Amino acid sequence: MRRTLVILGAGYLARFIRLISDDCYSDVRFTSRSPAINLSDVSIDRRILFDLSQPETWGNIPGDADLLWSFPAAPLEAVQRFAARLNGSFRRLVVLGSTSAYERAASPAIYPPPWIDETAEVDDSIPRVKGEEFLRKNCAAVVLRVAGIYGPDRHPFDWIKQGRVHPSRKYVNLIHVEDLAAICLVALESGIPGEVYNVSDGVPRTWTEISERMRKPQTCPDVKSDDNHAAGKRISNAKLLAMLHNAGASIRHDDLYASLSCTENTR
Ligand SMILES: NC(=O)c1ccc[n+]([C@@H]2O[C@H](COP(=O)([O-])OP(=O)(O)OC[C@H]3O[C@@H](n4cnc5c(N)ncnc54)[C@H](OP(=O)(O)O)[C@@H]3O)[C@@H](O)[C@H]2O)c1
Repeated sequence: MRRTLVILGAGYLARFIRLISDDCYSDVRFTSRSPAINLSDVSIDRRILFDLSQPETWGNIPGDADLLWSFPAAPLEAVQRFAARLNGSFRRLVVLGSTSAYERAASPAIYPPPWIDETAEVDDSIPRVKGEEFLRKNCAAVVLRVAGIYGPDRHPFDWIKQGRVHPSRKYVNLIHVEDLAAICLVALESGIPGEVYNVSDGVPRTWTEISERMRKPQTCPDVKSDDNHAAGKRISNAKLLAMLHNAGASIRHDDLYASLSCTENTR
């Protein structure tokens, strides 16, 4: 059967879905607000002009496709109007969210922080969380709450070197972009409509631990540590693992430092 996947918001993740999606879909299309510029490496027949803030572009999304929503689902009013325009004319909908939705569940008073699963409270004052929850409850969307994405061109050691993060006791949860791409395809096929799945490699680490591993081989000047006492979060991926197991899949990049050194070697 001929099936179409449309990636709404084709950025970094979409580059990796492209590499593996031909096994599942006969037709994969990519949207951009500037397709001629941002999708220049995609054949013209696979490019779609789409901008959530421009309703005149919404009709460009083909009907009966699987949709992967890969940019923040906000603001709510535009999400609601776009959903009304789609009017259920898609086969499956998977929406990328973020583990930052669980900010309320994180407490600096308890250390190490408790594990957070999909039943934890979300901060529904965050605009994208409002949009995700609307799509989940009203459009049967599967919502993936995604940890920090790393991979080629996105290396946690660089984030430390650039001072974007500092060594601290704060926990961070990560997922390799190749695993995330495969997980998106499994969720499109097997995710339970209206359910949430946390997406991380399941091994939260502190920024102190990661920066110590960075300094071991050499490469980096001393980085300043942080007196930030935030505890961060420890994200449970048990529900994700069960879905992957049922689909005969698994997380390939479960050894962060091995994956980081491979990524470093390809830079
Ligand atoms: N980076 C992380 O560590 C992280 C962690 C957790 C969750 N996430 C989420 O995971 C998803 C995928 O991440 P990613 O790194 O692949 O994102 P990305 O590189 O930013 O790609 C998303 C693309 O969506 C398009 N877009 C943005 N706003 C739009 C709008 N209003 N209407 C239509 N298209 C729009 C943009 O492309 P054009 O400019 O070409 O239109 C953008 O490049 C995102 O939702 C992200 O927030 C990321």
